[in-house]
Amino acid sequence: QSSVLHKFKGILFSTMSSEELLNSLDFFNAREDDVFLVSYPKSGTHWIAEVIGNIPNAQISLTSPIELGDISKFDELKMNCKRRVIPTHLSYNMLPVNIKQKQCKIIYIIRNPKDTAVSLFHYYRDNPNLPGIETWAAFFELFLRGDVVYGSWFDHVLSWEEHKNDKNILIIFYEEMKRDLSKSIKKITTFLGINVSDSEISKIARKTSFSEMKNNAAKENCDPNHTICALTSNRNLVFRKGAVGDWINYFTAKQRRVFDELFTEKMKHSELARHFEDYF
Ligand code: A3P
Repeated sequence: QSSVLHKFKGILFSTMSSEELLNSLDFFNAREDDVFLVSYPKSGTHWIAEVIGNIPNAQISLTSPIELGDISKFDELKMNCKRRVIPTHLSYNMLPVNIKQKQCKIIYIIRNPKDTAVSLFHYYRDNPNLPGIETWAAFFELFLRGDVVYGSWFDHVLSWEEHKNDKNILIIFYEEMKRDLSKSIKKITTFLGINVSDSEISKIARKTSFSEMKNNAAKENCDPNHTICALTSNRNLVFRKGAVGDWINYFTAKQRRVFDELFTEKMKHSELARHFEDYF
């Protein structure tokens, strides 16, 4: 095992998430108006964060991930007086219990696991905070076994599956955002209880297009206070291709068969998973 990852409760985390912090998550004090932005890595976290950050007069403050850093994290979050939007890649089971008790609003973003795997493969290659990886074939095996940072995609999604109808939880699909961004933005603003006009929604959609976000990342200096994913604060590592269906350029016929078999077996009772049938 590499020095950039460590195991906590059987799941791989970045060493930038200290064991003490992970152990203390259940001591986190949530506020009723907190919003949590939850995802498995590479599912479109930065995209949704940018949408939320561009809502006019939202009076919110986007924080760094709850699981990033050491135990001083909770004090840092406590000092934030605004309505906090807190990103995290935690599964439902690991989410601080107080967030569930207070029924804070949660947005869970989910993406076709084949595209997610390919995206995470590139992140492993490009991101110095992740272990080196030789080949796609090697990464594919790790991904299937859940031997990657934040564990198995299947387990992550299944942990949220049981809560998909909770009224404080909004599920957004990456593919849906690609198909009709304005519609997804509308869903998000309605869920947050913020009134936004149609022309403002179009404006947010323009500002959060892939090309716009990629260009802006190249121009900005990287700002550690503006960290959305606990695996990097360098936004240049995030905007790669931003497409649906790129997996076809990586999966061999055999890998596709193996993946589909595992998917069918693991996700047989999952309604969320049915959404991906069109993209397989
Ligand atoms: P690819 O590697 O397939 O390009 P996360 O933000 O959770 O780390 O997810 C990153 C993935 O979302 C990357 O996928 C990235 O390109 C894509 N992404 C980020 N912003 C996007 C946007 N505005 N439109 C489409 N895809 C976007």
